[in-house]
Amino acid sequence: MSAVLLRIRKYFMSKSVTVDAPGKINLTLEILGKRSDGYHDLRSVLVPVSLFETVTVCETDGGDVSCSISGDGVDTSELGKCPPEKNLAVRAALMMKDLCGTAKGCRISIVKRVPIGAGMGGGSADAAGTVEALRRLWMPAASRESLTGAAAALGSDVPAQLLGGAVVMEGRGERVRPVFGHGEKAAAPFWLVVVFPGFAVSTGRMYSLWTPDLTPDPEICKNAVRSVRNGDVREASRTVFNGLQNTVGRYYPETERFCLALRESGALSALLSGSGSAVFGLAESREHADAVRGRLPRDVWSRVVSTLPDGVMAAHGPLTP
Ligand code: C5P
Repeated sequence: MSAVLLRIRKYFMSKSVTVDAPGKINLTLEILGKRSDGYHDLRSVLVPVSLFETVTVCETDGGDVSCSISGDGVDTSELGKCPPEKNLAVRAALMMKDLCGTAKGCRISIVKRVPIGAGMGGGSADAAGTVEALRRLWMPAASRESLTGAAAALGSDVPAQLLGGAVVMEGRGERVRPVFGHGEKAAAPFWLVVVFPGFAVSTGRMYSLWTPDLTPDPEICKNAVRSVRNGDVREASRTVFNGLQNTVGRYYPETERFCLALRESGALSALLSGSGSAVFGLAESREHADAVRGRLPRDVWSRVVSTLPDGVMAAHGPLTP
């Protein structure tokens, strides 16, 4: 067989998995204090949304890991400047190689739909999607839960996004527990409008500028969990809280302006997601969310999304032996 035919045959026989890895919003983000390792202790109710990255991982025989990224509705031009060792998907693949001690490598292709530097967990979704795809290829006996500890080294949101579904996240992000028990799901999803003001915010910088502004109150988390379980968007809109909002708003007043624009457009409430720069407004229904979005300025990136009932990442690609 010619070398070219051999390469084509290898290509078609190579194992690949495609995973949809959702972005997230934080309904609540309480910062409980600064830790001695420089991180902050958090308590957050994090919910996946219907804006997702598509991560395809294809096993290769050489040990190398490579990654290509294209954007679907988001600008990925800045990512070209990011060295591979900083790419969270590449780091996730190297971690998985280490964990299973394989000499194999992989080619990762990502279609990005979650805005970059938006506090919506796009980069963490890429890492979580890569871990999940390689778990299916290389470690099918290992549960997703068993990998959350190792995934924490990749980034604070990765354990939550790997577990999938609505979670309460604690510690620096490494302690995650699902809001729903096995087989349970929300009475109804929440509909929301997400706005990305067009610039990235550095999470590390915002945490370094944060000053305590609230006495931690476990009721905030409890109420948010109850609202998600009951699908009660009115209760959620009374409960939402983000401890980074004032800090981010001081340095990036546009985030506050877009929260105001969302409220003035009829959203039940509006909040910064994570460390920003994206903000979201909660709505009563899909129609209400469409109406809110329709009243926003036309030139700003916005999407109507829903929370995902159990948020699981769906592998829909062929796993060819
Ligand atoms: O973990 P991740 O890479 O997402 O965090 C980015 C930065 O945000 C960290 O380097 C740290 O400065 C800050 N951070 C924090 N406490 C957390 C999560 C993040 O101080 N729980």
